[in-house]
Amino acid sequence: MKTILITGGLGQIGTELSTYLRQAYGTNNVIVTDVVKKDSPVVEAGPFEQLDVTDGKRLAELVDRYHVDTVLHLAALLSAVAEAHPQAAYRINLDGLFQVLEVAREKQLAVFTPSSIGAFGDSTPKVTPQDTIQRPSTMYGVTKVAGELLCDYYFRRFGVDTRGVRFPGLISYEALPGGGTTDYAVEIYYAALKTGKYVCPIAKGTLMDMMYIPDALRAVHELMEADPTKLKHRNAFNIAAMSFAPEDIAAAIQEELPSFTMSYQVNPTLQAIADSWPDKLEDTAAREEWGWKAQYDLKTMTKDMLKNLQPRLAETK
Ligand code: SER
Repeated sequence: MKTILITGGLGQIGTELSTYLRQAYGTNNVIVTDVVKKDSPVVEAGPFEQLDVTDGKRLAELVDRYHVDTVLHLAALLSAVAEAHPQAAYRINLDGLFQVLEVAREKQLAVFTPSSIGAFGDSTPKVTPQDTIQRPSTMYGVTKVAGELLCDYYFRRFGVDTRGVRFPGLISYEALPGGGTTDYAVEIYYAALKTGKYVCPIAKGTLMDMMYIPDALRAVHELMEADPTKLKHRNAFNIAAMSFAPEDIAAAIQEELPSFTMSYQVNPTLQAIADSWPDKLEDTAAREEWGWKAQYDLKTMTKDMLKNLQPRLAETK
């Protein structure tokens, strides 16, 4: 990677990945794009362009103008929003990816595409191997599985250097996720610091894979810089850090903030999605093929989240 264009660059992952990669590759070598221009330190700090990912022509122009060699394609609707707007999800998640891959084919670019724990469904083993049954029941999942296959196809058929991981639910404090099923695991920290209590929309005992954002950023960087001859899977690597249920994260917060309390008011739509997803991903292929290893567990993440979020929330009061 030398000159990188990020789509969806003002979202939960993009906001932090932009800053992280600008430190590693130089500010002007990371072109951040998003469908809308928002007030963000990322926009102030370096090159920013408005880009709707379904507009392949505009993407091609930006690639030429900035001499881009790598696209990190993060623009997508998350699971709960995608269920509310399945047609828009198909267009943005799948047609958007198709446009990116076509530009990559024409201009010989490398492409990173995130897949997700949402690429699995009820018939997938709950402890989920790298290569297994994928019959998701959500539009989000449909677009993620199709995206994985499309990336494999563009590598095999056209030699496009496609790579990707299946992200767990991501937990971060810079930018909020927008409409995912795992969002509760971010909201709970905000609620703990703001009000000392949280009403959880996911039922007790519901295990899902989660990861703290610094590990996720490192995963993108390490995979994109990995020796391609060692990659057998290329796309859709399972990566894992921790698997927990709502009562586990509540207990971890209580260790830091003993007066914190949590109650439940289960949202049936979110719960159905959560129930259809894995309990725990097996990430042996990522470990073996490019040396992946998470650094944060629930305890260390919770300490760090609270430490970083506290001053931010104090500023916005
Ligand atoms: N965090 C995502 C969601 O909940 C899963 O990839 O939709």
